[in-house]
Amino acid sequence: MFQMSTKPHKVSSLTSSSSKVSSSGKARQASAKSRQNTKKGRSGFVPLAAAASACVGITAAALWKKSKQASRSASTSTSAAASRKSVVAAAASESDRTILILFGPPGAGKGSQAPRIVETLDIPQLSTGDMLRAAVAAGTEVGKQAKAVMDSGGLVSDEIVVGIIKDRILESDCSKGFILDGFPRTVEQANKLDDMLSASGEKVSSVVELSVPDEVLEERICGRWIHKSSGRSYHVSFAPPKSLPSGAKPDESNMLDDETGEPLMQRGDDTAEALKSRLDAYHKQTVPILTHYKPTGVVSSVDANQSQEEVWTGIKTALGA
Ligand SMILES: *[C@@H]1O[C@H](CO)[C@@H](O)[C@H](O)[C@H]1NC(C)=O
Repeated sequence: MFQMSTKPHKVSSLTSSSSKVSSSGKARQASAKSRQNTKKGRSGFVPLAAAASACVGITAAALWKKSKQASRSASTSTSAAASRKSVVAAAASESDRTILILFGPPGAGKGSQAPRIVETLDIPQLSTGDMLRAAVAAGTEVGKQAKAVMDSGGLVSDEIVVGIIKDRILESDCSKGFILDGFPRTVEQANKLDDMLSASGEKVSSVVELSVPDEVLEERICGRWIHKSSGRSYHVSFAPPKSLPSGAKPDESNMLDDETGEPLMQRGDDTAEALKSRLDAYHKQTVPILTHYKPTGVVSSVDANQSQEEVWTGIKTALGA
């Protein structure tokens, strides 16, 4: 069913690429683990599962971390996937699907813009995490491979992710196209995606970047405070709680939930320091991918330091919608 390569992957290339594109400790550990495996291997080759653990991308922890909050939508999408399966679309041979890669740093407003694209173009947003979870839950061939890797604490290989995307985009809801969310993250992944698409005569039709200056993102993100038990969210400048006197420096004593009066908190990720490393990683990963697609004339950058309506207008222009 899947053109999964059962050929062992040469680890040297995998490890070198993974150290190039990822600075995450987990990836480094995985590379180290894989190098050990290589030494044990007879000819410098390792089986897929071990090779996969060296690959960049998605750690099991990162995937399953979200699973609690996403479990409702995941189970919905699993049953939806099951019913879509019964109508296997002849979509692969269509040559004019909208194949959109949407990029944006944390805080750029992807979460509020993507649903508009979904609705307007009638195409689904395919998140790598959701697709992997659904494939694992559905027990597809590639899903089983992914599960084995994740159960062993490894990273899912690019081959597995591309295999899962390849399967998913055959479903009928992708007949007009789809939005890829969270993939590709590296030029290597972009190349694999391009190869998979070109096998059915397709290619990425739009790459849209939501562009927001880092300092604006810092204000957007670092000003966020939440009320943990209700999930109500506030912003120091844009939506302050009543308890914050104007001009006062926000802290735990004056950042209180409007309804309960309980203290608000900031997410660990929402500090200037954490944001800086997230943005560094984003710029390092994204710029080369934009450069990769530039020659094909599909790349556009939308100024996302504007109101949601203005950003949406920019996206529509970029997509010719
Ligand atoms: C972002 O938008 C705000 C509000 O329109 C503006 O004051 C600011 O100069 C913009 N920042 C940049 C770097 O474009």
